[in-house]
Amino acid sequence: MSFFAHPTAVIDEGSKIGAGTKIWHFSHIMNGCVLGELCNIGQNVVISPDVILGNNVKVQNNVSLYTGVICEDDVFLGPSCVFTNVINPRSAVNRRNQYLSTKVGKGASIGANATIVCGHDIGNYAFIGAGAVVTKYVPAYALVVGNPAKQVGWMSEYGSKLLFDENGEAFCKESGDRYILKNNLVNKVNE
Ligand SMILES: CC(C)(COP(=O)(O)OP(=O)(O)OC[C@H]1O[C@@H](n2cnc3c(N)ncnc32)[C@H](O)[C@@H]1OP(=O)(O)O)[C@@H](O)C(=O)NCCC(=O)NCCS
Repeated sequence: MSFFAHPTAVIDEGSKIGAGTKIWHFSHIMNGCVLGELCNIGQNVVISPDVILGNNVKVQNNVSLYTGVICEDDVFLGPSCVFTNVINPRSAVNRRNQYLSTKVGKGASIGANATIVCGHDIGNYAFIGAGAVVTKYVPAYALVVGNPAKQVGWMSEYGSKLLFDENGEAFCKESGDRYILKNNLVNKVNE
């Protein structure tokens, strides 16, 4: 099984695309990109040189992934969310050797129209609300919203809000999985 690309997609030489990945209308995959297996790249998506996507990454329409972005397995990028890679761009100044990287951890979701200011990683299973502007590191399982993005809670791997009790224990309402909050870090308990 190989990948599928709609006839209007442009795939540059030197990119590597995993089996079962689908690339839809008018999207452009540039040289040096590595896309994992079973990814879905929506319409009008641009993936700049050397971007790395893991397996099962879902990229909705109109997303631009700039050089320096790495998304681990199972990341969801909502429609029209925006990455950046230069912190202080000026049209007349070349800063191509000053790109800052942004790593999006396994299973994290980024809501529609959110903006990720470069150089701030997003932890595993973090959830960025629609329209948020991320200006700081987002911890694993954190739910952040607003501009600038602030943490308002925690989300399970399933995408359900986690309400911790006084012992720092919470159960995902959908999956039943158990989570522990200790020292402001969340971990899923594998039983
Ligand atoms: C963040 C999110 C998961 C919260 O969902 P929820 O738990 O159902 O939220 P609620 O509607 O109960 O809202 C709780 C509070 O947060 C606020 N809020 C919710 N989403 C917000 C957001 N994205 N930005 C700012 N505030 C938000 C609500 O206004 C409400 O505020 P209040 O308590 O002052 O009234 C959801 O709103 C969101 O942004 N999802 C992403 C959707 C998306 O982009 N999908 C892309 C694929 S189509």
